[in-house]
Amino acid sequence: MKITVIGTGYVGLVTGACLAEMGNHVVCLDLDARRIASLNQGQLPIHEPGLLDVVLRNARAGRLEFTTDTDHAVAHGLLQFIAVGTPPSEDGSADLQHVLAAARAIAERMAGYKLIVNKSTVPVGTADRVRDTVAGVLAARGLAADFTVVSNPEFLKEGSAVQDFMRPDRVIVGSEDHRATELMRAVYAPFMRNRDRLVLMDVRSAEFTKYAANAMLATRISFMNELALLAETLGADIEHVRTGIGMDPRIGTHFLYAGTGYGGSCFPKDVRALIKTAQDAGQAFHILPAVQAVNERQKQVLVDKICARFGPDLSGRRFALWGLAFKPGTDDMREAPSLAIIERLLALGAEVVAYDPQAMDQARQALGPRAGLSFAVLADAALTGADALVIATEWKEFRSPDFAHLAATLHERVVFDGRNLFEPAELQAAGLEYHAIGRGTASAPPFDTAHAQR
Ligand code: UDX
Repeated sequence: MKITVIGTGYVGLVTGACLAEMGNHVVCLDLDARRIASLNQGQLPIHEPGLLDVVLRNARAGRLEFTTDTDHAVAHGLLQFIAVGTPPSEDGSADLQHVLAAARAIAERMAGYKLIVNKSTVPVGTADRVRDTVAGVLAARGLAADFTVVSNPEFLKEGSAVQDFMRPDRVIVGSEDHRATELMRAVYAPFMRNRDRLVLMDVRSAEFTKYAANAMLATRISFMNELALLAETLGADIEHVRTGIGMDPRIGTHFLYAGTGYGGSCFPKDVRALIKTAQDAGQAFHILPAVQAVNERQKQVLVDKICARFGPDLSGRRFALWGLAFKPGTDDMREAPSLAIIERLLALGAEVVAYDPQAMDQARQALGPRAGLSFAVLADAALTGADALVIATEWKEFRSPDFAHLAATLHERVVFDGRNLFEPAELQAAGLEYHAIGRGTASAPPFDTAHAQR
C-alpha cells in the first residue's frame, strides 16, 4: 500500500518505519529540513532501540523515503497519517495548529480519494475539526469531498516503541465509514496475524480512549506513590504491598512501581489536557488534579530525604546522580523527575555529578550550564568524591552495583534510591545506609525476591 506519514517525531518515525517493514511504500514528510537531511544520512533524531535497523533496511530497499516535499508526499499516499506534535498550549489544552496545518496541506493538494488517519494524540472532537478543515479547502477548490478522517491513536512506549508497534496489544480505530475501516484493517492485518486485536469504534470514543488510558496509568502511579509515603510512615514496605496487590488479577502487576514520579512527553501533558477538556465540557475532573499534585510532590521526595539526613543547607556536599532520562531505554528528558531533583539540590548549595547512559546531551541542553553541575562519562566516575549516591532512573546497569566499592567510595556511605532497585539488607550488610521509596521496615524480613522481578 502507498502510505504517507506527516511528522517524523517519535510516533511518525516509528509508524513510518514499521509500516515500511511490512512491505508498504512509505513516504515520511517533515518541514524540518535538517531533520530530513540527517534521516537521509541514516541518523535518527531520537534514541530508540531497534529503530535504526528498521529505518536503514527499509530505506535501502526503497520502501521508506524521507522528504520535505509536501506535493510529493501528498500525491504519494492513499493513506495520509498525521503524526505531528500536539504540544500543550498555555491553558493546558493540546495545541492543534500542526494537526490542522497538515490537514490543510493535504486538502490543498489532493486529487482523488484520501484516507486521513489522525495518529497524533488529539482531544475529542479533533477529527471533526480536521474534517471541516479539509472540506472547507476542497470546497474553495471546487472539488468534491472525496476523503475520510479516522482516528487511530498510538500507544507505543518510548524504549520499546518498535516492539509495541510490531506486536500491538490493541489497535484502536475510530471510523464511521466502511471503506476507511477496511483500509485500516488491511494496513494492520500483518501486525496481528495470530489474533485480531483491532478494536473498532466511533471516532470520538477512539480519541477519548487514548487520554483515558494515559490518565488511568498516571493515576495508578500517583496512587502507588501516595501509598508508598504512607507505608513509610506506618513502617510497612511498599514492595511487599505491591507484590501482594499485584497478584489480584483485577489489579495486575504492571505500573505499580513507586518512584520519583512520572515524567515524559505523554502523561503530564495528557493529564493536563484531559483536565482542560473536562473543564471545557463543563465538568470538573476531581481525581486528575490530585494525580498531578501527588506527582509534583513525589518529585521532591528524594531531596526531602536528603535534607532530612544532611540538613537543609547542602553547601559543601557532593552527590553522585545516576539516571537522568525520565525512564530507562530513552534519552528523553521531557519532564524528567531528575530535572526537579537537580534544580533543588543545586539551589540548596550542593554539587551534583550526574551520569546517564544515554541522556547526558539532552540533559545538558535541558539544564544549560549550571554552577555546581557536572557530568561523568561513567557511573563509577560520578562516585569519586561524592558524599552520597542518588538514583533517579532505573537503568539496567545500575541494578547490580558493587556495594563494597560503593561503601569504600562514598564519603558518607549513603544511597538514596528513587526506584527501589535493591534489597535493603544487602546494602546494610555492606555498611551502606539505604533510603528508598516507601520502605519503612528497616528490621523486616528480607523482601521475597522471587516476586521482585520487574
Ligand atoms: C506512555 C504510555 O505508556 C504509552 O502507552 C503512551 O503512548 C505514551 O505515554 P511513555 O511516556 O513512553 O509511554 O512511558 P511509560 O513507560 O508509560 O512511563 C511513563 C512514566 O511513568 C515514566 O516516568 C516512568 O518512570 C513512570 N512509571 C511507570 C512509574 O513511576 N511507575 C510505574 O510503575 C510505571
